Amino acid sequence: MSDRKKRAWLDGAVGYEIYTRSFADTTGDGFGDINGITENLEYISWLGADIIWLTPIYPSPDHDHGYDVADYKAVRSDHGTVADVEALLERAHSLDLRVLLDIVPNHTSIEHEWFQKAIVDPTSPERAMYLFRDAGPDGGPPNNWISHFGGPAWTLDEATGQYYCHLFLPEQPDLDWRNPDVLDAFDDIYRFWFERGVDGFRIDVAHGLLKHPSFADNPQLREVGPEAGPLAKFFSFDHKYDMDQDDNIEIFARWQTLADEYDATLLAESGVTDHHRLARFVGPEALDLSFFLKPGWLEWDPAKFVDEHLSLAEIEPDGISWVISNHDQPRPVSRLMRGEPASPTNDKTGINRSLAVTTLQMVLGGVPFLYYGEELGLSDAAIDPENREDPVATRNDTDGGEARDVARSPMPWDSSPRNGFSSVSPWIASEDRPPHETVEAQRADPASPLHRYRALLETRRGLPDMHEAPFERLDSPSDEVAVVRRGSVLVIANLSGNEVTVSSAGSGWVEAFRSRDGLVSIGDGFLTVGPELSAIFRADA
Ligand code: GLC
Repeated sequence: MSDRKKRAWLDGAVGYEIYTRSFADTTGDGFGDINGITENLEYISWLGADIIWLTPIYPSPDHDHGYDVADYKAVRSDHGTVADVEALLERAHSLDLRVLLDIVPNHTSIEHEWFQKAIVDPTSPERAMYLFRDAGPDGGPPNNWISHFGGPAWTLDEATGQYYCHLFLPEQPDLDWRNPDVLDAFDDIYRFWFERGVDGFRIDVAHGLLKHPSFADNPQLREVGPEAGPLAKFFSFDHKYDMDQDDNIEIFARWQTLADEYDATLLAESGVTDHHRLARFVGPEALDLSFFLKPGWLEWDPAKFVDEHLSLAEIEPDGISWVISNHDQPRPVSRLMRGEPASPTNDKTGINRSLAVTTLQMVLGGVPFLYYGEELGLSDAAIDPENREDPVATRNDTDGGEARDVARSPMPWDSSPRNGFSSVSPWIASEDRPPHETVEAQRADPASPLHRYRALLETRRGLPDMHEAPFERLDSPSDEVAVVRRGSVLVIANLSGNEVTVSSAGSGWVEAFRSRDGLVSIGDGFLTVGPELSAIFRADA
């Protein structure tokens, strides 16, 4: 066992994901840029986040919005330059903010020079950096693997008759992580950015890196109809041979050891839902942190939320990055109200539900992340079908149900045209948000969602036991209610639709935070909390 410890600067930290192209445009091209982020760091620091993660900033032909990288050691010109990133780092560090970039190691773009060489010259060493395989016995793809984004996970290279593997689009060929050249090339990319002061990376599709050497067919778990969306089809298979291979952990350990030289952190994007398997991603022999994405997929199901959070926190109370949303999912204010008509009242309920869950996440250790706009209580953006951008929607015959565009609209800064995001139409055609959803209006209104999120982060910062003291799951009056104690802090997350009284907590508590206006009462030896409300208490000193 190594005695490596997670970096000290992660203790008690909260992260904030920025969808780079939608945050702030300073050049008037409708596309967010690095300088736009730098100019708004003060806002993030005021909100109380400690770490920002930027979605990919590299040159890309944009088949998957930057997740198809053509050059990992450069910045795309419509985002800025490497010098802009250095200026961002300097400003961020002066505000005590840390900056994570997004690294995409599972696949490159077809325009990356490695892939170009691999196609042009099948005898080149670059060919072996990818997963080219001979056709199957019937002349078709080598096995039954399918892509997350529709169709087979194999595309024919007509010149040679071989197929190459891609777990996402055909424009995103997967790398061969069993090839030492690939490992060396990425060590070099990490060092390039660490030398410039980057504080770490979010690792895209970390659970996909290695494929089983047998390249065997994946077992099918259930039949799905042709009308099912691409992700529903993808998840109808047991991804035994293409995802979450045991030896990925060795790659993580190598990377985190490299990052340790720079006091930098690594955070896996992992779609793994099994708690024990996910816990393997973090710790002394693996990475500092891993996302647990499932709460970002769920619709409103109080008992499920309580169980998923508490069971994983009991297994791994320190290394999880908790999220309720990111750039790949509908916004929680809408998702948690699915089935209800969109209305201001329902949005309010959606915000209350989101914040009730996020409040619980703040006491589960690790580094919780907010997604830009979540702090404003944004619901899904209205995007007309003909304006969809996401390849999940544009390349498949679906009704757009799985489209990710709804969570990628411009940050609403103020109520000027285009919400102050840009002087021209944004890259994604979406309606402006009403004034009460903007940063400007919410900063001026102490009762706004923004001030509530800020108060939550301030509460966490002021109560170090919330993440430092041992995690204890206390008896709860219902499976829809989480009662967690960490030393001098107690959190009751009442996700149920009823008022509950908790007696397991004892006495001597003072209220520190409540996630919405509503009942919180402290009795003699019991606490009462209103429906869909999470409250934080501290011991009366
Ligand atoms: C990750 C990203 C997603 C992207 C995919 C392929 O899941 O979050 O946006 O499409 O990887 O890179």
